[in-house]
Amino acid sequence: MQETWGPATSIPPQTPRVGPADAARYDERFASRAAGIMSSAMRDLMAISERPDVISLAGGFPDTEAFPQEVYEEVAEVIGREFLASALQYGPTEGLAELRERILEIMAFEGIRAQAEHVMITSGGQQAIDLSLRTFVDRGDPVLAEGPTYPGAVPCFTAWGADVVHVPLDEDGLRVDLVEAAMDRLAAEGRRPKLLYTIPNFHNPGGVTMSLERRERLVRVARERELLIVEDNPYGQIRFEGEALPSLYELDDGAGWVIYVSTFSKILAPGIRVGWVVAPPPVLRKMNMGKQGADLCSSTVSQRFVLEYLRRHDWRDHVARLNGIYRSRRDAMLRALEEEFPAEATWTRPRGGLFVWATLPDYIDTKDLQAKALDRQVAFVPGEAAFLDGRGRHSMRLNYSGVPEAVISEGVARLGEAVREFTDLHRALNPGAGA
Ligand SMILES: Cc1ncc(COP(=O)(O)O)c(C=O)c1O
Repeated sequence: MQETWGPATSIPPQTPRVGPADAARYDERFASRAAGIMSSAMRDLMAISERPDVISLAGGFPDTEAFPQEVYEEVAEVIGREFLASALQYGPTEGLAELRERILEIMAFEGIRAQAEHVMITSGGQQAIDLSLRTFVDRGDPVLAEGPTYPGAVPCFTAWGADVVHVPLDEDGLRVDLVEAAMDRLAAEGRRPKLLYTIPNFHNPGGVTMSLERRERLVRVARERELLIVEDNPYGQIRFEGEALPSLYELDDGAGWVIYVSTFSKILAPGIRVGWVVAPPPVLRKMNMGKQGADLCSSTVSQRFVLEYLRRHDWRDHVARLNGIYRSRRDAMLRALEEEFPAEATWTRPRGGLFVWATLPDYIDTKDLQAKALDRQVAFVPGEAAFLDGRGRHSMRLNYSGVPEAVISEGVARLGEAVREFTDLHRALNPGAGA
């Protein structure tokens, strides 16, 4: 192949003259926002997870191999033939009008009624979380979130200076009684939470779903105490068992206390980077301005891809196929945990979503375990990554969607070996202790 342009070969690269000794120059200039920002452990693990020799149970990766190649080719071809100029053009900040309409159909499948004018397309659900915090949170403002919470939200919480108050989860989801207790405690200090961030369906990383009773109570609390809720629902359609429960947005019934966030990442593919937010008009206006500053508009190529896909194909067939794959993988993981993990360990049995949350005996710190697991070429997310207050040290998030059953079994077997090193040592040091 003829080389026509090769800056890397023809022009010598710049040699950076800035080393670690110069860090102070930048440190003293960083905004407090940037100084306090914490990375998402998930993202940090990405480089390790991409190594072909590592079995990754760390990511939240949907199975993109299940996306039919011919469908991709067809949609790309239609865009190239009929929509190329507009797909390559800037678009409205709130997103393509027809896609906003189509999103209503997707929400209606979960029983959620919304209006297109209240929908804004975002660059993944991630951007909607970030915009919510950007819009409402001043440095030091209390924000309620489940404990554990979505590890990917950590950079958003820390960037905007949220003082995150965790509220525990149990098998029925968020402990709404403790939301009220947390609000009472804050009120005694003269503070109130700016918002509550929650993932009611197939929690990441908790693997649990909020019961109907708690949803109703939470919406009541929101109204009575004027608590704004950000309901993040990337996994509602990734269901293996049971019936969909009403969303908080639906239960709020237009009262304006719920901001709803979802995404095409889990029902189509995350590389598209298209999500959405539904919010009351005054909130949506501010979020729109925040988005203008962040990226003007979400990729019009991606939006057009989703739109042409939805026009031509029944997304529900694809989701049904994905759910079949994930159900088998979840079963493989639960079987392997039963065989490989010690009797004192506990874990969730998700009825949908992508994650199991496992808790080990309290003499095992999962960060130490992570080092031993990586020696055995297996990765997971240590539980501490899902808290902002240092908790979660004995827990871990395990993903089952990204790798086939046999690899899951092998990965959990290797993890089990690493765990046994700790349990054996503990027994040796504490001969009187039980198993
Ligand atoms: C709970 C939760 N919210 C938001 C996201 C972000 O998804 P995306 O930005 O790909 O739409 C994820 C991704 O894993 C998630 O698990």
